[in-house]
Amino acid sequence: MDRDWFRHGTIYQIYPQSFCDDNGDGFGDIAGIIKKQDYLASLGIDAVWISPMYDSPYRDNGYDVRDYYALDSRFGTMEEFERMIEGFHKRGIKVIMDMVINHSSNECEWFKKAAASKDSPEHDMYIWRKGKDGLPPTNWEAIFSGSAWTYVPECDEWYLGTFSPYQPDFNWENENVRKTLFEMTEFWLKKGVDGFRMDAINFISKNTQFPDGPSDGAGLAPIRPFVQNGPKAHEWLGEFKKQVLDKYGAMTVGEADGTSAAQAIEYSKEMDMIFSFDHVALDNGENFTFNASADYIPKLKTVLAEWQTKLYKKAWNALFWENHDQPRIVTRLGDSHALREASAKALAVALFFLQGTPFIFQGQELGNVNTVFTRDEVRDIQGKNNFRLYVDTGIISEEKMLEYINYKSRDTVRAPMQWTDGENSGFGGTPWIKTNGRKDINVREQESREGSVLNFYRKLIAIRKNNGVIENGTFKLYNAEHESVFEYTRTLNGKTIYVICNISKHTVEYTPSVAIGGGNVLIRNYENSDFVSTHTLQPFEAIALTL
Ligand code: GLC
Repeated sequence: MDRDWFRHGTIYQIYPQSFCDDNGDGFGDIAGIIKKQDYLASLGIDAVWISPMYDSPYRDNGYDVRDYYALDSRFGTMEEFERMIEGFHKRGIKVIMDMVINHSSNECEWFKKAAASKDSPEHDMYIWRKGKDGLPPTNWEAIFSGSAWTYVPECDEWYLGTFSPYQPDFNWENENVRKTLFEMTEFWLKKGVDGFRMDAINFISKNTQFPDGPSDGAGLAPIRPFVQNGPKAHEWLGEFKKQVLDKYGAMTVGEADGTSAAQAIEYSKEMDMIFSFDHVALDNGENFTFNASADYIPKLKTVLAEWQTKLYKKAWNALFWENHDQPRIVTRLGDSHALREASAKALAVALFFLQGTPFIFQGQELGNVNTVFTRDEVRDIQGKNNFRLYVDTGIISEEKMLEYINYKSRDTVRAPMQWTDGENSGFGGTPWIKTNGRKDINVREQESREGSVLNFYRKLIAIRKNNGVIENGTFKLYNAEHESVFEYTRTLNGKTIYVICNISKHTVEYTPSVAIGGGNVLIRNYENSDFVSTHTLQPFEAIALTL
């Protein structure tokens, strides 16, 4: 078996409730995924990562698991799940399952027993502390707002929910918890799953001194410093690798927000790669606002270059612009209208020639844009909380908050996949979340057009296969301070790939930093490009050459 398949492969993320709804209940399902397997194979991808399909009360869209051994019945049956895996494998596509083991749902049987009595065997599966004079044990603020602690009168104790009260954290310090969770993951590996995307995995080890943090005006302190990248994370993930992953040759990509490149190298001992968020956090402002500053592109280039060079030969990058928590890259950095396709392609080029494994989020291959919401249409726990916290308290106007929500909230990408320009975008029944509304962006139209974003992604995916320079070449960034041009080379054994992308709406005169005359075009997004001779980049022009 090629254990390194992901180094020359591309992974496609399916957000199952919004992918394809076969039975017409408005919620995507396994039968829908099966229907689209030929489409997925036609992209040339090597694996799919499927967001959680476990039984869940859906407080956080499935990232709150009620039963780790069961599927949410809206997705379908275990038999269909197995048939889906078989269908992917038949097409040479691996299946990466989302694994949410930092926390469960508060409706999980284990937690219900744990909370029913201090003396239950399950109690110590979660993190409990005594309060301080009727107040929570610490002033930590949950990621989705409010105190991270919830009081349970039956136990006269508080439990920790790093994300929300609906997502109590497992007590990984307890050896039985690790054993129970590892055993559960094997259940899925035995079904033929090829690996895991490990949700919030750098949160498993906490600061067990439980100190207070420096509090803000509301008396709460950001929780991250106390619960991220804790002292035992590597020890426990090492156990997981040895006891489970290695037995199956399973691939892992860990979600590790707030992790430095140096820490990523440490995690690479236990996981194949991690998702870091430095490059998509550059526009984060206070109180959930955003701030796309003038030097956004230079900062972005610097971050990407740092990860490219620091991880070289030491760890492996997970490359992405979008996922179910991040907005559409075309809305963020490109153009949603006349230059939509050019910008979608340019941003794809910018990412695809870097070292690492590219991840595509469903619809990204169409150059899709954010869905626009009103307050009532917002579905996500984080989005809803923001209105309560900042709008209802008068800190931010509703209008401003909507601007933020529509720029970068998690709902913006969760609308149904756009298969056609027909009813519900060809997704199925009336969807659980608003449809995107951009009828001009859909699979059917792009299939039939040679120059579409979809066909451009197919070319990029194909180029990455068996290309030693992309897989292993060194990386060099040029002109880091240029406000819109992203120019880099990848080199291996005397062969060089030259990449240049104009991430702006403007025509830019730009003298290449290396001699490119005589280079062969690998891919470009303007057929009439004459950059090589005129040094003029059209708006959102991108080109990759072999030198
Ligand atoms: C990860 C998921 C996100 C979820 C959170 C809590 O960040 O990607 O969707 O809300 O973990 O599980």
